[in-house]
Formats: sequence, structure tokens, C-alpha cells
Amino acid sequence: MDVYGLIGNPVEHSLSPPMHEAAYDELGIDARYVTFEPAEGAAGEAVDAAATLGLAGLNVTIPFKQAVLEAVEPDDLAARIGAVNTIDFSGDRPTGHNTDAIGAVRALEAHDVDLERDAVVVGAGGAGRAVAFGLATEGMDVAIANRTVQKAHDLAADVPGASGHGLDALPELLSGADVLVNATSVGMDEDRSPVPTDALHGNLAVLDAVYSPIQTRLLREAAETGATTVDGAWMLLFQGVEAFERWTGRDAPVDVMNRALRGRL
Ligand code: ATR
Repeated sequence: MDVYGLIGNPVEHSLSPPMHEAAYDELGIDARYVTFEPAEGAAGEAVDAAATLGLAGLNVTIPFKQAVLEAVEPDDLAARIGAVNTIDFSGDRPTGHNTDAIGAVRALEAHDVDLERDAVVVGAGGAGRAVAFGLATEGMDVAIANRTVQKAHDLAADVPGASGHGLDALPELLSGADVLVNATSVGMDEDRSPVPTDALHGNLAVLDAVYSPIQTRLLREAAETGATTVDGAWMLLFQGVEAFERWTGRDAPVDVMNRALRGRL
């Protein structure tokens, strides 16, 4: 039996175990997916221990995504983002990957969104960083808007072709944009949106990284303008799909994983 794991704190209510185990069941893979909460500062040791114990793969979530870099060989994208959420133990040394970035891209692609022109990412924390790199890697021009403007500038300096702004620039930025991603925590368990309602329009595709509630105020208001909306569960799903495919080398049963995930939201 293969064992896959997740390290983070907290991980008790993680949706990754049911999502991955539904995929194992569907494809007849003899595996389990378990969660661990290492002590703060013990990320590297946890990765070493997972390797020693022969885990087949490890996901990493907050607050360990940066710290595990010390214990893995990151691929190019993960190194540039400076964060790893998926570790592969199949080589001589554990390799680190960032499927959050690819997850956002695949979530949009699954909704037939063209990733060619202008994107606006709201938020410059860990999620904003992964999303901005993901979209820029697809060739999009990315504008990053953040409450703390300096953080938007700092992130934009790292992302090829990106620009940094304050939230007050959102109406102007959005007027010519095709894609909008909320990567802030605004809207999580509250009926608030980080984007002024009248800055939204029907030519946008709007992805909200927030998945609790699943239908955020931003998505509701975007849908009212005729925009394409993509909820945060899609992003969560596709980071898991991407990790599953990397670990197993098989196409993930996306619909089955999606149902397992949404059944618990
Ligand atoms: P994560 O890793 O999930 O991205 P984070 O690094 O704490 O979490 O980042 C949270 C993001 O939400 C930041 O962009 C933060 O803006 P600041 O950099 O200005 O703190 C944004 N955010 C949180 N609360 C916000 C609020 N009330 N209004 C606007 N932005 C907010």
C-alpha cells in the first residue's frame, strides 16, 4: 500500500484526504492519504522523515510551504515562487513542486477561459504569488493589486511582465482585463467583496480562491454582470489533480475528485 500525506497546521479539516482517496478508489489504487501536524520549525525534519518512512508523496500547506524548500530540490517554478505544496519522493532526492500555480490555471482552462491577455490578481500574499506566477507562465500580462501597495510592487518585481498597484486602481485595471482572480481572504466566511461592484463587467472571467462560502459576494456580483465565474473549489480541486497526476503518472478522475470535494464543502 502507498501512503501519501499532507503536512500543515491546522490540517484536521483538510479536504485533501477524501479528494485523493476517492481517486484511489475509482482507479483501484491501493493507497491512503493521511494528515500530519509537525511542530513549528520542523518542516525539513518532517520531509526527511516522510522520505525515510517511504511515503509516496507529500502535500504541504500553511505554514510550511516556504520552509520545506530546505529539504527538497524545487523545480524551476517552485523555486521562483519560493513555495512548495507537492513533494515527490520517486527520485534520489525529494523534489518540490507548486501545483497551486498550475491549479489556478487549470481551473480557468476547465471553464474555457482564454489565458492570453490581461489578468488582474487581487492580493499579494502566498496565494497571490502562486496565482500571479501561474498566469504569467501562461503568457498573461498580470497586474497585481493589493491593500498594502508595497507588497504588490515587491511581488510584481519578481513576476515577469507584472505591475503592482493599490486597490484604488482596480476600476481602471479591470476595464481592459479578461481575467480577475481574488487571492485575498476577503469574502471568507463574510459577505464582502474586495472589488467594487461597478468595476465588474461581462467580459471578465472571475476566479475566487475563497471557497468558504462557495458562492462569494464577488462571484455573485460578477455573475450578475454576465461574467464567467469559477469558484475556489475548482482551484483546490486542480492543485490536487495536478499533484495526483505527478505522483501516480495517471490521468486523475477529475469528476470523482470534484464530487468528493464538493460533497464536503
Ligand atoms: P495567503 O497565503 O492565503 O495569501 P496572506 O499571505 O496572509 O495569506 O495574504 C492575505 C492577502 O489578503 C494579502 O494580500 C492581504 O493584503 P495585505 O498584504 O495588505 O495584508 C489580503 N487581505 C487580507 N485582509 C484584507 C482586507 N480586509 N482588505 C484587503 N485585503 C486584505
